[in-house]
Amino acid sequence: MASDDLAPKCVADSRVVLSTMMNPEHANAHGNVHGGVIMKLVDEAGGFAAMRHARSAAVTVAIDSMTFDEPIYVGSIVTLMAALTYTGRTSMEVRVEVTAENPMTGDKVQTNVAYLVYVAVDPQGRPNPVPPLCVETPEEQLRYQQAHERQAERKRRQTREQALRQQLATAENDEL
Ligand SMILES: CC(C)(COP(=O)(O)OP(=O)(O)OC[C@H]1O[C@@H](n2cnc3c(N)ncnc32)[C@H](O)[C@@H]1OP(=O)(O)O)[C@@H](O)C(=O)NCCC(=O)NCCS
Repeated sequence: MASDDLAPKCVADSRVVLSTMMNPEHANAHGNVHGGVIMKLVDEAGGFAAMRHARSAAVTVAIDSMTFDEPIYVGSIVTLMAALTYTGRTSMEVRVEVTAENPMTGDKVQTNVAYLVYVAVDPQGRPNPVPPLCVETPEEQLRYQQAHERQAERKRRQTREQALRQQLATAENDEL
């Protein structure tokens, strides 16, 4: 089945908002929350949005363009907002924005933005077509266009890395 045979779905249909408190077990010795804790939450929120869009299992294939702009401290409420920016045939790009809130003062700061790519998979783990994404607002249209460019760059990078790995394997074989 092609993704065009499926009814398009809007960005709002799969948007995810997830909030959680940062506790001492999430912190390093300086009291800052570990980057890895945030990355895990980002991947979870992005994965929920991808599954909501595809209505199937979805696996992560790429996490890139992740920024750490501000530290997050123990006691903050972290909120992750995940929204689809782009769909291919079986792939989906999700933008996840992270904010940290001081629950005592209400002060909020945007701490991270990340772009992740998920692939919808069938029960055998094979790529499965996803509904096309309908982009309605000018902002969604611009995000879609930028995501399309990022996805093209990922594919170029993947091809380059495969060629470099092949070069290394050939060099190692020649040494034997
Ligand atoms: C996801 C997976 C099923 C894709 O299999 P595959 O044989 O590479 O399939 P394809 O080449 O047909 O690619 C499927 C889609 O993924 C996209 N894709 C694959 N690798 C990608 C990458 N590194 N970056 C961006 N997109 C990628 C392809 O462009 C394609 O998109 P499209 O259908 O929208 O055009 C396979 O790579 C896999 O199982 N990976 C492990 C995923 C996983 O376990 N994640 C959790 C990690 S902890």
